[in-house]
Amino acid sequence: MRVRDSSGENLERIMAEINHDINLLYVIPCVYTRNLILNHLRDRLFTLHFVMDNMKTAPGNQATFTLQELAKFNGKDGNPAYVAVNGTVYDVTNNSAWAAATHFGLTAGRELTNAFASCHAGQPILNRLIAVGRLV
Ligand code: HEM
Repeated sequence: MRVRDSSGENLERIMAEINHDINLLYVIPCVYTRNLILNHLRDRLFTLHFVMDNMKTAPGNQATFTLQELAKFNGKDGNPAYVAVNGTVYDVTNNSAWAAATHFGLTAGRELTNAFASCHAGQPILNRLIAVGRLV
C-alpha cells in the first residue's frame, strides 16, 4: 500500500502549525492573543479535515491495494475491515451490517464485486461507505 503525495506534505505542514499553536497557548497569558490563536487552531482543524477528505477522493492521491494487501484488512486482530467493489476499496470496519467483519457468509479483506452485484444491484449503499483507496 502506498500513499503518494502533495496532500501528505500538506498534512505535515498543517500538523506542524497545530503543534505550534498548542505550544503558544501554553505560554501566552493574554486572553485576547489566546483567542486569536484558538481561532487559528480551529481554522487549521477545518483545513486538516478538508485535506484528509481530499486524500480519500483525489484520484492521484488515493491509496492503492493489491489483492494480497487487501487481504490483510480482514477486520481480525485489530486490523480494519476493507472490501473492494468495482475497483474501489471501502472501509466497513464500523458498519453494523459487517459486524465481526463478516456479512452473510462474506468476509472482509476481499474483492466482492460479483457478490455485491448479485445482492445489492442498484441500491445506494456504496456512497454511504468511506472509500479508502483503489484496487490495483
Ligand atoms: C451474499 C451477498 C449479500 C447479501 C445476501 C447481503 C445482504 C444484506 C442485507 C439483508 C442487508 C440489510 C441488513 C440490515 O439491515 O441489517 C445488507 C446491508 C448491507 N450490505 Fe449486504 N449483502 C451482500 C453482499 C454485500 C457486499 C458484497 C457488500 C460490500 C460492500 C455489502 C454491503 C452492505 C452494507 C454496507 C450494508 C448496510 C447498508 C446500510 O448502511 O444501510 N453487502 N446486506
